[in-house]
Amino acid sequence: MARVLPFEERELLVAAAWLHDIGYAAELTDTGLHPLDGARYLLRAGISPRVCGLVAHHSGASAVAEVTGMADQLAEFPDERGRLRDALWYSDMTTSPDGHSITVEARLAEIRQRRGPEDPVVRALDINVDERLAAVRRVHRLLRRTYS
Ligand SMILES: [Fe+2]
Repeated sequence: MARVLPFEERELLVAAAWLHDIGYAAELTDTGLHPLDGARYLLRAGISPRVCGLVAHHSGASAVAEVTGMADQLAEFPDERGRLRDALWYSDMTTSPDGHSITVEARLAEIRQRRGPEDPVVRALDINVDERLAAVRRVHRLLRRTYS
C-alpha cells in the first residue's frame, strides 16, 4: 500500500510501520505511553526525526496523551498531517494484533474488547475515533484511485 505515497515517502512508511509499537518493549518503558517511549528511544538511536514523529503520534496517540496527562511530553515530537501519517494509521487500524487484515470497525471493536472500558486507549476513542475513521477513509480513496 506504500504505492499510494510519493516514492520518497514509501520507505518512511515501512520504517514507521515496523517500529511504531517498539515502545511496548519492557526495556523501553518509561512513561508507559508506548508511542512516546518508542519515539524517544528511536530518536536516541539516531532514527529519522520524521519517523520518530510518526511513531509518537500514531493512531491517535495525542488523545491518549491527553487523557493520561502527557500531552506536553508528546508535543516534543511534531505531528505531521497528510498522506504518510494517514497511511501509517490506516495500516495500524486495519491490521489485527496477530497481523491479519481486518476492517477498521473490527479493529476498533477488538481494541475495546481486549483493553476494556477503563483503558486510556479506549477512553481516548471518545476523542479520536472520528479522526481515526477519517484517516482510513482517505486512504481507502487513495487506494481505489491508485489501483483502479
Ligand atoms: Fe501502538
